[in-house]
Amino acid sequence: MEKFKNYINGQWVEPISRKYFNNINPADINDIVGEFPESGQEDVNNAVAAAKEAYKKWKMMPAPKRGDIIKRVGDIFLRRKDEIAKIMTREMGKPVFETKGDIQEAIDTAYYAATETRRLFGYTAPSELENKMNLSFRYPIGICGVITAFNFPIAVPSWKILPAIASGNTVVYKPSKDVPHAGVVFAEVMEEAGIPPGVFNVVLGKGNMGNMIVEHPDVNLIAFTGSTNIGFKIGEVCGRTNKKCSLEMGGKNAQIIMPDANFELALEGVLWGAFGTTGQRCTATSRLIVHKDCYEKIIEMLAEKASKLKLGNGLLPDTQVGPVIHQAQFNTCEEYVKIGLEEGARLIIGGKKATGSGLDNGYFFEPTIFADVTKDMRLFQEEIFGPVLSVSKAESFDHAIELANGVDFGLSSSIYTRNVNDAFRAIRDIEAGITYINAPTIGAEAHMPFGGVKGTGNGHREGGWTVFDIFTEWKTVYVDFSDKLQRAQIDNY
Ligand code: UN1
Repeated sequence: MEKFKNYINGQWVEPISRKYFNNINPADINDIVGEFPESGQEDVNNAVAAAKEAYKKWKMMPAPKRGDIIKRVGDIFLRRKDEIAKIMTREMGKPVFETKGDIQEAIDTAYYAATETRRLFGYTAPSELENKMNLSFRYPIGICGVITAFNFPIAVPSWKILPAIASGNTVVYKPSKDVPHAGVVFAEVMEEAGIPPGVFNVVLGKGNMGNMIVEHPDVNLIAFTGSTNIGFKIGEVCGRTNKKCSLEMGGKNAQIIMPDANFELALEGVLWGAFGTTGQRCTATSRLIVHKDCYEKIIEMLAEKASKLKLGNGLLPDTQVGPVIHQAQFNTCEEYVKIGLEEGARLIIGGKKATGSGLDNGYFFEPTIFADVTKDMRLFQEEIFGPVLSVSKAESFDHAIELANGVDFGLSSSIYTRNVNDAFRAIRDIEAGITYINAPTIGAEAHMPFGGVKGTGNGHREGGWTVFDIFTEWKTVYVDFSDKLQRAQIDNY
């Protein structure tokens, strides 16, 4: 079986402990993807030391030159797209058409970040004094710790890593324990592109290894995507140690369907939103809010369509829905089915392990739909991160918005309607970082801000131009060429 290594200071190195863990294919638990390093404190220390040393030179390189290298990262991902997609599918289960999209998102991010190195604009403003100029520049922050989840093994890390290094920072990256192979591939691509040693380091591991990066005194910034629970803990450490941190956490995203909507389109949207990536997206549609005038009709149509979804190994061409990531996630789905039934929600379809040819050795869970889910139910409130959709009835448009907003999260949202007034009211009134009109809750593009409000985030936005606010600090410069002491606020008033 193949044994993989960490990537530290431009070298492929074994973990100091010489301990390894197996990573398995969630579609077939007899298929072991490989053995991956179980890294510890010393490995983290080595990676941080390498990043610290490399930072001295990397931050001095003209930003557009850094951009040239990052462009090559995009080129290599493009060249290796088909091959890497299969590696990702084998490791985490989503179908190949989705893993290809995942890589495309990283390619888009690379090309965007590469050109942004020529556009890391500062501001100039008039001085309040004569013969004085006011300028401002963006500066890198230093050593960035990047910690991500399993569901977008290439795209989500790329959102952080590529803008971070484009800005002149260096990175220590810890992928989720469920997708270490994608972490290795990321390092291979960076190495081939010519990212200098130490600028990008990958330390693989599990358990609380990520915390060693967060706690490390030489790490200046943490960029995290994952559960709310862990994100809040990281936020506490970063508060105590005064590190900048960007947190992308859970969601409980709602799609609203109004009676004037194109039902076929709305249902296509909810099927993709709820069961794409087997519901394991921060942006997944986990709540469907339907106006009372079309409630039963939509449920009937939805059940019929959802029951036809083809589950299977994501490497097979006709698979629409893959397995969930591991036994624990499978158990969570089962647990929420139990909770939903106890709470009195109406189970429409699914609710148990999917069986049939090719499904028996994987973590396949039937696409599950509950109706009559009310705001007070845990099914309505809590992120499940699996193929479990809750449907709720809204008495009116206002009630639909109230339901959409009635959770602690605020990442993505969607409304299907042909009424332009309702669409614009929804844009204004839904509490979320992202709102889609006549499109599902998933489908973010690399060049637009991505992130959420309430329990989803801590005020930052990845993607687009806004990600550079995370990875840079401002330097303000006053140039006084008057040849005399000019006291602001005093000599001029
Ligand atoms: C995530 O769920 O963590 O919009 C990211 C989308 C994808 C990104 C999702 N482009 O669903």
